[in-house]
Amino acid sequence: MSGTLGGRTDYTGEGIAEQDAPDAPLPLVRAWLEQASARQQDRGDVPEPSALSVATVDGDGMPDVRTVLMRFLDGTGPAFLTNTGSAKGLQLGQNDAVAASLTWPSMFRAVRFRGRAALLDRALVTEYFRSRPYGSRISAHASEQSRPVADRDSLERAYAACERRWPDHGSADDVPVPDGWGGYRILADRVEVWAGRRNRLHDRLVWDRVGQGGLDDPDCWRRSRIQP
Ligand SMILES: Cc1cc2nc3c(=O)[nH]c(=O)nc-3n(C[C@H](O)[C@H](O)[C@H](O)COP(=O)(O)O)c2cc1C
Repeated sequence: MSGTLGGRTDYTGEGIAEQDAPDAPLPLVRAWLEQASARQQDRGDVPEPSALSVATVDGDGMPDVRTVLMRFLDGTGPAFLTNTGSAKGLQLGQNDAVAASLTWPSMFRAVRFRGRAALLDRALVTEYFRSRPYGSRISAHASEQSRPVADRDSLERAYAACERRWPDHGSADDVPVPDGWGGYRILADRVEVWAGRRNRLHDRLVWDRVGQGGLDDPDCWRRSRIQP
């Protein structure tokens, strides 16, 4: 047995030509995200289009990676919500280096970000937390993310205790924002878009930061093409 996995799908994406590429990355990333969401509505083959793999580095220089949901995307960068005392939170507290990718295999497309992580503004975190379903808000209190737990029952008991403490009155204020719940913004210095094409001769366009403005500021990015 060779150990080779999977088949040999030829990637037949549309690709991306220089003349269609904006001077700053945000408009293209946004358009791709919108197209991925629309495709999920139409054809159902892009589940969780905003699933973002986020890589961090621990104190020993070991990389780590997990998937979160990208909840914001604007000129400042993509952002996600999480427990700031989790493994990722502790790692980012020691070393703010971060990389992330959005991948839409059925569309032969991916986006990569590299940069530094910054804690999200507390007001934004609070506003977002209040918009979450009651059960999710309770779980944010019940779970010390990434810490060991004896068994499933212990988790359920922690959830039930939080439910008793903060009963559901149908209001956004029923559950306070946990101190250890927050989020991170990825302040990118490099953004890459990848478009899979026939014969593995893919398109890769990269934007490198040359100024301090946002992901949508054409004066702050230098665009180039790299080989597949
Ligand atoms: C599709 C998907 C979406 C997820 N979204 C989030 C999220 O938005 N925030 C989060 O903290 N964890 C999310 N998770 C769970 C994370 O992958 C991970 O298990 C958790 O954040 C703990 O990671 P850590 O121990 O590296 O800190 C998601 C997992 C999947 C598969």
